[in-house]
Amino acid sequence: MKRTAIVTGANRGIGYEICRQLADEGFRVILTSRDKLKGEQAVYALRTLSRDIVYHQLDVTDEASVTTLRDFVTREYGIIEVLVNNAAILLDEGKRLLDEDLSLVRQTMETNYYGALLMCRAFIPLMKEANYGRVVNISSEAGSLAGMDGYAPAYSTSKTALNAMTRIIASELQGFNIKINSMCPGWVRTEMGTASAPRSAEKGAQGAIWLATLPNEGPNGGFFQDEKPLRW
Ligand SMILES: NC(=O)c1ccc[n+]([C@@H]2O[C@H](COP(=O)([O-])OP(=O)(O)OC[C@H]3O[C@@H](n4cnc5c(N)ncnc54)[C@H](OP(=O)(O)O)[C@@H]3O)[C@@H](O)[C@H]2O)c1
Repeated sequence: MKRTAIVTGANRGIGYEICRQLADEGFRVILTSRDKLKGEQAVYALRTLSRDIVYHQLDVTDEASVTTLRDFVTREYGIIEVLVNNAAILLDEGKRLLDEDLSLVRQTMETNYYGALLMCRAFIPLMKEANYGRVVNISSEAGSLAGMDGYAPAYSTSKTALNAMTRIIASELQGFNIKINSMCPGWVRTEMGTASAPRSAEKGAQGAIWLATLPNEGPNGGFFQDEKPLRW
């Protein structure tokens, strides 16, 4: 039977590429975006006879939007195997936590941390019912406390929080065949990563496909890049 995957923030960049690769792996992919037109254009560009990709609007900062998507998935498929929390914003590169506009910090946490948390709270219960799930949190090495510096204070904080969420939810899911892991895609050529980045989106997305298709004995509650553990 076909497995179903949701990818957030998938109208462009790494999320778009994750959709393409998951569809090529045989998943039914629900490509989501906050802007309906951009998302539908992405689905149109990706869809082929062999790629099963459907569109649904989703703003991860809007609880009603998350609930609407959950209701759609429950009604149409009843089950969800994979959730990729990819949507994120980077607004404060080069700023300082002591004096940057607090609204930037709040907006960043709202999208990068609370957005992923809302999605986990909405979809992991469905995974629990089926006792199967793979959750992939697209994080960043910028969130690693081991090398923490002032690169983008709110963004880095949000990714540290996302990593903490990965570990906490993993511990709450003991006994279920549900795995939740964080990963860094590397420095990738996207709008966020800029044209100077050395990696293609194709390469950056590969780790997400690995985590989305982990076998039952695969890792849980980890932080990876290129299938290798990263320092927290
Ligand atoms: N690129 C890199 O070098 C790099 C490095 C480390 C980690 N990452 C991580 O990789 C992931 C993807 O990054 P990317 O480089 O592909 O970034 P990107 O090109 O800026 O794409 C970000 C995506 O997130 C969406 N988004 C933002 N806020 C949203 C919201 N409230 N609800 C739903 N979608 C929302 C954007 O939608 P709109 O088009 O509507 O803005 C866009 O589709 C992020 O989690 C990022 O932190 C990237």
